[in-house]
Amino acid sequence: MKLIDLVIEILDARAPLSSRNPDIDKMAQNKSRLVVMNKADLADKNINEEWKEYFLSKGIKAIFVNSKNKEGLRSVLPAVKEVCKEKIERNLSKGIKNQPIRAMVVGIPNVGKSTFINAYSGRNVAKAGNKPGVTVGKQWIKIDSNLELLDTPGILWPKFEDKNVGLNLAFLGSINDEILVTEELAGELLLFLKDNYPNLLKERYDLSEETCNTQNLDEYEQFATAQSVMMDYIAKKRGCLKQGASTDYFKVGGIILDDFRSGKIGKITLERP
Ligand code: G4P
Repeated sequence: MKLIDLVIEILDARAPLSSRNPDIDKMAQNKSRLVVMNKADLADKNINEEWKEYFLSKGIKAIFVNSKNKEGLRSVLPAVKEVCKEKIERNLSKGIKNQPIRAMVVGIPNVGKSTFINAYSGRNVAKAGNKPGVTVGKQWIKIDSNLELLDTPGILWPKFEDKNVGLNLAFLGSINDEILVTEELAGELLLFLKDNYPNLLKERYDLSEETCNTQNLDEYEQFATAQSVMMDYIAKKRGCLKQGASTDYFKVGGIILDDFRSGKIGKITLERP
């Protein structure tokens, strides 16, 4: 942290609070901050604006990008200059010109840190090598004369006590799937989609109103319905059946999670400010 001026925090635009590590506020004290909402291509555009306002109200600038397709990356440098304005002005007043801002990119697993760094540095990546005063092994990527990035993305462990935050991180793929129960997770996702994006859900899996109807059911019955009625229906359509024609819940659950993660169900945001 001593080596850097700016912390670029990469969040998943589909769940900006759940994909945020609260420790970063403590770690990044006295540093300039920029939030990059990555995977904006997969998120609900209407809710993106709400998040932008939310972060602004906390004094943090947030920009939206799609690192995979390199969309929105042009807004990074102006945003960096804006959030580092004080440092740049301080340097100028001391007669120091062209001192690059040094930034570190941090985020929880799978938010797209590496993709962002690679996309942003593009073909002009110039590893500045071990500079004096820099711990051996750390490399700086020179973006241009204004900005250098520490080339190792800082991985933060997700931190959560809230069940919904845990679920969101699992939906996003930030928690190792091997330690999760795929069919239960997919059931939870179906329930979220039924309540929040019913049309996208019905369209993707050709589900009828009746299949999605969980009115007057308690929480347990709703989950059971998602798992039995909805998943059974989708499994039949997708050929996820075991011998004897019983539903292969693991297989169909995996398909539903993959569809969500890759945006095949639609542009979906899991939480609002
Ligand atoms: P990390 O360093 O934070 O752990 O994440 P990483 O860059 O490895 O990205 C994780 C996955 O997210 C990758 O997909 C990557 O392509 C995808 N990704 C990153 N940024 C974006 C984005 O802005 N939009 C979309 N749609 N996807 C993004 P993968 O399936 O693991 O790899 P690949 O099949 O794409 O190579």
